[in-house]
Amino acid sequence: MSFADRLIDWQRRAGRHDLPWQRRRDPYGVWVAEIMLQQTQVATVIPYYQRFLERFPSAAALAEADLDEVLQLWSGLGYYSRARHLHRAAREIVERWGGVFPKRVEDIARLPGVGRSTAAAIAVFAFGARAAILDGNVKRVLARCFGIEGYPGTPAVERRLWRQAESLLPERDVAAYTQALMDLGALVCTRARPRCEACPVAGDCVARLTGRAEQLPTPRPR
Ligand code: ADE
Repeated sequence: MSFADRLIDWQRRAGRHDLPWQRRRDPYGVWVAEIMLQQTQVATVIPYYQRFLERFPSAAALAEADLDEVLQLWSGLGYYSRARHLHRAAREIVERWGGVFPKRVEDIARLPGVGRSTAAAIAVFAFGARAAILDGNVKRVLARCFGIEGYPGTPAVERRLWRQAESLLPERDVAAYTQALMDLGALVCTRARPRCEACPVAGDCVARLTGRAEQLPTPRPR
């Protein structure tokens, strides 16, 4: 079985299936979730996500709001530039895109606060696109599994990780695969004390086979 097939199979059995943003697959809801999840853990995000979507159910509603109210609802989540960007992007969606969320990964990636990985996640979950993600968790999974050495913050290492991420993408079931990668990084291939005994790809994992799971990814040089 391929890397992707193993992950997808594992996700069905052991992954997360009832997160609030998995219930609504509209681009606006997916976007808000992915922004909140950029720097904040799932359990913290859930109540904020629910309050935010109740108060601002659409990009139009968010665009019309005062920034102060958006920041108030964000209060406690931290990294407030995310809320400012979200508000600015909502106005851009209304003004530039006529209130219709852009569909192409390149257009999504140009919205304030949305980078390449977040744009890919939104396109995959909301539109079924075939695009690779590479957030901190995925960098860790790939660095370990494929024995990619070097601090992932350096451009050369990051390029190798992106290439690896793209080469692993399955032809179909990309949403299930993407969720699987996220779940594996959050639940099994954790930064400290990874649970290799529960990992569907442990048999091929370079870090596991060389006893280096806790040494990879390479920490920031200091
Ligand atoms: N982290 C980032 N995006 C996520 C998602 N859609 N589900 C769970 N964790 C995530």
